[in-house]
Amino acid sequence: MSHPRGELSLRTLAMPADTNPNGDIFGGWLLSQMDIAGGLTGKERCRAPVATVAIESMCFHHPVAVGEVICCYAEIVKVGRTSMRIRIEVWSQGIQYGTERKKVTEGIFTYVAIDKNGSPIPVDREES
Ligand SMILES: CC(C)(COP(=O)(O)OP(=O)(O)OC[C@H]1O[C@@H](n2cnc3c(N)ncnc32)[C@H](O)[C@@H]1OP(=O)(O)O)[C@@H](O)C(=O)NCCC(=O)NCCS
Repeated sequence: MSHPRGELSLRTLAMPADTNPNGDIFGGWLLSQMDIAGGLTGKERCRAPVATVAIESMCFHHPVAVGEVICCYAEIVKVGRTSMRIRIEVWSQGIQYGTERKKVTEGIFTYVAIDKNGSPIPVDREES
């Protein structure tokens, strides 16, 4: 059995309000959970607010059903001057007790550390 890569950043429950017309969980909702999870990890790394500048390699492997527990794992794969590339995997666990969890979605998100004016600042910098 494979395991999640990265650290658990966010855990939540897929609710009926998050469904698409097929009755499965809406991909946009999953993407927003991933964005929140990566943003939290990025913010901790650079100790500043972050803005999402790019999303790449998004892949939806399996549908998610209402009631499943969603866990977002984040791993910083590259730190640039002002940006961080963060790989995010979403694993879900079915409603039934003992159901094996599976990787449902993954992608790479790039965040930029920003100051209070929204301008990029170095990830690693001297604190004033
Ligand atoms: C994020 C933002 C502040 C960056 O400002 P900018 O003037 O484009 O900054 P720069 O061109 O100096 O790029 C900053 C960093 O982002 C990287 N970057 C910019 N565009 C990128 C892209 N399309 N893909 C990947 N990285 C990108 C640059 O390579 C640079 O990284 P580095 O400093 O580690 O080398 C600005 O583009 C912005 O505000 N975008 C909107 C963000 C937003 O609203 N997001 C959604 C809600 S959070």
